[in-house]
Amino acid sequence: MMKFPQFSMLPFLMVVVILSLSGTTLSHPHWDFLHCLSLRLANYSTISKVIYVQNNPSYSSVLNASIHNTRFSTPATPKPFAIITPLKTSHVRSTLYCSKKHGLQLRIRSGGHDVEGLSYVSEVPFVILDLLNFRAIKVDTKNEVAWVQSGAILGELYYAIAAKTNTLAFPAGMCHTVGAGGHFSGGGYGTLFRKYGLAADNIIDARMIDVNGRILDRKSMGEDVFWAIRGGGGNTFGIVLAWKIKLVPVPAVVTVFTVNKNLEQNATKIFHRWQYIAHKLPDDLFMNVWITKVNSTQVGMKTVQATFRGLLLGGVNELITLIQDKFPELGLAEENCNEMSWIESVLYFGGLPLQSVDILLDKNALPTLSLKAKSDYVKEPIPESGIEGLMSMFLEEEADNAVAMIPAFGGKMDEIPENELPYPHRAGNLFEATYIVQWTKEENAESGKYISWSRRLYSYMTPYVSKSPREAYVNYRDLDLGINNINDYTSYEQASIWGFKYFKNNFKRLVQVKTKVDPMNFFRNEQSIPPLLSPWKNKGN
Ligand code: FDA
Repeated sequence: MMKFPQFSMLPFLMVVVILSLSGTTLSHPHWDFLHCLSLRLANYSTISKVIYVQNNPSYSSVLNASIHNTRFSTPATPKPFAIITPLKTSHVRSTLYCSKKHGLQLRIRSGGHDVEGLSYVSEVPFVILDLLNFRAIKVDTKNEVAWVQSGAILGELYYAIAAKTNTLAFPAGMCHTVGAGGHFSGGGYGTLFRKYGLAADNIIDARMIDVNGRILDRKSMGEDVFWAIRGGGGNTFGIVLAWKIKLVPVPAVVTVFTVNKNLEQNATKIFHRWQYIAHKLPDDLFMNVWITKVNSTQVGMKTVQATFRGLLLGGVNELITLIQDKFPELGLAEENCNEMSWIESVLYFGGLPLQSVDILLDKNALPTLSLKAKSDYVKEPIPESGIEGLMSMFLEEEADNAVAMIPAFGGKMDEIPENELPYPHRAGNLFEATYIVQWTKEENAESGKYISWSRRLYSYMTPYVSKSPREAYVNYRDLDLGINNINDYTSYEQASIWGFKYFKNNFKRLVQVKTKVDPMNFFRNEQSIPPLLSPWKNKGN
């Protein structure tokens, strides 16, 4: 006699029907995971809004919506067996519970800007926990704080603050599509960091789910964990749902400027001089140099340009007087400057049209390319001959869409002790340099030549940058620095190779915290912090 399914099986059977209609074949852990999750989500309408399995008509669009490096969007890129887009905290806990129970790796995705694609690619069977529905932002201007959920992009955060006041802001990154979740987890710097430090320096509380499904705030997670999640890198200590941030004052009018100098206009000499000056300027001034290849005035020829772009928390006259006094070589004139509100300056630095701030809410306002990034910290000025060599590398064929982004350090960054947070690159740095080489998705088959250009550039820079360790910024993740063993235990010594580059001596404390909160290493990726060897060797999950 035919048996009717139990009531509790119904949601799962609906998933089964959807999968069989779409021709999906699944192995055991996958079925078990889905079964587990569908039982916990309990109703069909929730399941259809939260679980996207391969062959679901929306699977690809949900997957691709937050891929910001098309190097990892090819047919050969390993795909998640399912993408879970929780609507509420209980869905996050259920996803955690079921992926743990059935041995599937979990990749947490907020904005999807991980430059090595770690939030949406894994070599082992995995699911993505995509926080795209966790985007609420609550701004409290009276107390100068805000709560921001991890899936919100920086543009949404800046927009929400500016909707209430033009004299408060938040010191985070310049690209408006970057997600709060990953960005805050690795530090996060932007145009206000010389005045106020990193995004992570301005986080005062957080809401996190640990590996046991407990919902913790600053008090209940304890100061060690709260320290670790503010810069120790994502996907390591738990799932951060939301952050409480301290807003910072900005004047109603700020001034931005851009001065371009190419090789024929003494770019090399001016950049050389900049290194001695920029980190000592008042902390109200942010200054960034971008090195790129551009067309020369001679038809058909190329040259290299240094773009000096900056922001002063003050008016244009103050800026011109300051630069003429301290850095006259730049030749800053009034026509290079623009007074505007801080929120307009976000558009300016984000490469967005200044017409409407609404564009900050658009995750797809900028084209997505394939890219490889590497980073360095510089403590001694690079000699002119060294800069000449750097510039000449940008004339190479592979550098058509390459950029070296070089923000001056100093100011508040000099005042914060190295061990205050996991991000250790503080006093003594003149600047950070991020080298990004880009190409189109159509050129992915030739990605090797671009990646090897970035490795040659990195190798060329060796004599001029920090040493022992050669420091790097975890938010510009670089798997060339070393990776964890994917399916086996990773020793402290092995992980130290890249761990000390990102975190210097803070790496030791990060390992201790990890060992305490996630000894079985459930939250992991190629560069997550490994726990110390647990009583029984950590294998698989
Ligand atoms: P994504 O969602 O890919 O997450 C990054 C990492 O954090 C992954 O390992 C992920 O699993 C983990 N993670 C994400 N959400 C989590 C959560 N809620 N809980 C726990 N772990 C979580 N940096 C900077 O300092 N200043 C800048 O101006 C810029 N600009 C910039 C522009 C562009 C175009 C790119 C590609 C990158 C930057 N960055 C940057 C670097 C950026 O800060 C870095 O890539 C962040 O990790 C991106 O965070 P997302 O949430 O977008 O990425």
